[in-house]
Amino acid sequence: MSKNIIIAIDGFSSTGKSTIAKLIAKKYNYIYVDTGAMYRAVTLFAKNNQLVGLDFLKDEELIDSLKDITLTFKFNKDLGFAEMFLNGVNVEKEIRSIEVSQLVSKVAAISEVRKKLVKEQQLMGKEGGVVMDGRDIGTVVFPEAELKLFMTASADKRATRRYKELIERGDDVNFEEILFNVQERDRIDSTRKDSPLVKAEEAIEFDNSDMSIEEQFKSICTLVDNKL
Ligand code: DC
Repeated sequence: MSKNIIIAIDGFSSTGKSTIAKLIAKKYNYIYVDTGAMYRAVTLFAKNNQLVGLDFLKDEELIDSLKDITLTFKFNKDLGFAEMFLNGVNVEKEIRSIEVSQLVSKVAAISEVRKKLVKEQQLMGKEGGVVMDGRDIGTVVFPEAELKLFMTASADKRATRRYKELIERGDDVNFEEILFNVQERDRIDSTRKDSPLVKAEEAIEFDNSDMSIEEQFKSICTLVDNKL
């Protein structure tokens, strides 16, 4: 009988972590948890309550408000993945906006925010059978994960992917703004004090700048099969 393992996928922003994580979860009938969506939802709450903006962060007030934030994932059969609900409202589209992307790294650097979300993530994955993507999954959330992957790609490739996604959904963005955001998030996520983005020692690194989704999927399935 195969075991229910934990697959941790960490890496830089827009490296296609969620695309690959969703495919793996579907194939092995695992739960997929997009932890970035959780940081994005807290950021949306903070933005809507004027607790964060491009030039300010009211961290004390946000910490006090954490008790008023309930995050839930609800599986959408048509989409094939779970959507994020903030206090009962579907915020899946809003949390992917450039405005939230520009603020999320600031909010994700607050230790109390991380503590709350890490606890919830550990609960979601405690039975195994989970593919979780983020920045600190293999290092902090599940240091004992059976399989750890670390995704990278050039900033230019990542910004191009992100730009296409946002244009396709009708957002009014320009490429330079997206490239700057990708680089700025890399910088803040990798240099913050609490749980910075670093590759876990035993993580297997994928530079997917020139790899197709199919190629990545095939290699990762082999790694998963070897663990089962
Ligand atoms: O994966 P993403 O780009 O949607 O994540 C959005 C931001 O959330 C990212 O820039 C950093 C933060 N994040 C984090 O600090 N830790 C995680 N486990 C996931 C995301």
